[in-house]
Amino acid sequence: MASSFSARVLLSVINFSFSTPAISQYPPEKVSLSIYYETLCPACSEFIVYNLSKIFESSILGIVDLNLVPYGNAKQLWNRTTICTHGSDECMLNTIQACNFIVNNNFSEWISCFERRPEKRRIIIDCYLHGLGEKLESQCAMETSYLYPPLEYLPWVTVNNIPLRIDFQNFVKYICKAYKGSPHRNCQWTPYL
Ligand SMILES: *[C@@H]1O[C@H](CO)[C@@H](O)[C@H](O)[C@H]1NC(C)=O
Ligand SMILES: *[C@@H]1O[C@H](CO)[C@@H](O)[C@H](O)[C@H]1NC(C)=O
Ligand SMILES: *[C@@H]1O[C@H](CO)[C@@H](O)[C@H](O)[C@H]1NC(C)=O
Repeated sequence: MASSFSARVLLSVINFSFSTPAISQYPPEKVSLSIYYETLCPACSEFIVYNLSKIFESSILGIVDLNLVPYGNAKQLWNRTTICTHGSDECMLNTIQACNFIVNNNFSEWISCFERRPEKRRIIIDCYLHGLGEKLESQCAMETSYLYPPLEYLPWVTVNNIPLRIDFQNFVKYICKAYKGSPHRNCQWTPYL
């Protein structure tokens, strides 16, 4: 089906890809880290700005596939209207963030957009206005509704699809535990056993 095909393409595009050069022919699989959130949820922005941002200063990023899903408890109605927890401003910001991911794979630029100092404004607004943003948000909606177990609160953070629940701030510990390669140097200080 054409629509599910384009959704898959979008899904792969929305994943940040900060790859490091492969050191062997078959490097261990990266650990998937997904963040389900809403842009105007204070606990979500705190987590993203103060905790998640730390991995962008760390080489641990090299073993992570990061998937940011700005949708949270929003609801898409049958007629494609979206109702967001914090009102229509939040719907707009969620979409802008989804657009921003595909424009910026530079996290420090992305975070400044999160903090409302948008760069690359024109391209992002284009994405927002001309339909791609809507497709991206539908993809986020689908991905959020397929979560098993379903999300209970936000931010909802998963490592290899396992929810960390209230321990979400300690996501690095779980990444280290899940990684199949030889211990990453940034994991050595972590009590991960
Ligand atoms: C997350 O960030 C907050 C605010 O800076 C900090 O108090 C907390 O210790 C951090 N959590 C972890 C696990 O680093
Ligand atoms: C979609 O449906 C909702 C509720 O049924 C309604 O309030 C809204 O105006 C509709 N939106 C459009 C674009 O028709
Ligand atoms: C990311 O953006 C920041 C701020 O614009 C810049 O200083 C940095 O060099 C960029 N990093 C990469 C890898 O492009």
